[in-house]
Amino acid sequence: MAVRAERRWAILATVAIVVIVGLAAITGITHQVMPQSGVELVDPNTLHISGEFTEANLGSALESDGSVTVRVIGLQYSFTPQCMLVPADTNVTFRATSADVVHGFIVTGSNINTMLVPGYVSIQTTRFSTPGERLMPCHEYCGLGHEGMWARVRVIDRDEFLKLPSQKNRVTCD
Ligand code: CUA
Repeated sequence: MAVRAERRWAILATVAIVVIVGLAAITGITHQVMPQSGVELVDPNTLHISGEFTEANLGSALESDGSVTVRVIGLQYSFTPQCMLVPADTNVTFRATSADVVHGFIVTGSNINTMLVPGYVSIQTTRFSTPGERLMPCHEYCGLGHEGMWARVRVIDRDEFLKLPSQKNRVTCD
C-alpha cells in the first residue's frame, strides 16, 4: 500500500518535471529563434533608399484609427526629423531606428525610453495629456558628438493638429 502510493507520487513528480523542462525548452528555443515581441527588423544600409524610413516617410502620420505614428531615424549626431509635431490626447506610436550605431531614445515627461539599435525598429506608444515642448536627448553614448544629439517633440491640441494641411502626408514642426 505504502509502496504503491510512493510509486504514484514518484510518477506524478516525474511528469511534473518533464512538463516543466519541456516548457522551458520550448520557450528557450522560440525566444532564440524569434526576435522579442514588438521588435521588427530593418536593413540599416538601405533606410534612405526604400521602405518606411525614407525621408518622405519621416515625421508624424495620422492613421485611419485616429492615432498618430511618428517615424524617426537616429544617426551620428542628430535625429531626423529634428522636431516632431504630435497631438495631445492621442495615441502616439514612435517607430524609430538607427542608421549607424546604438543611440538613446527618450522623450522627457513621457514613458518613451528605449534605444535605437541598427537593424531593429524600436516601437513605443504613449499619450501626451498636455500641449508643450518635450526634449528628446540621446541618452546612450554614441561618439564624440553625443552630447549635441537631441531633438524636440512639440505637442499641440488635437483639433489644431487635425486642421493642419496635408494631413494625409507627413507633418513636422515647420
Ligand atoms: Cu546618439 Cu548619443
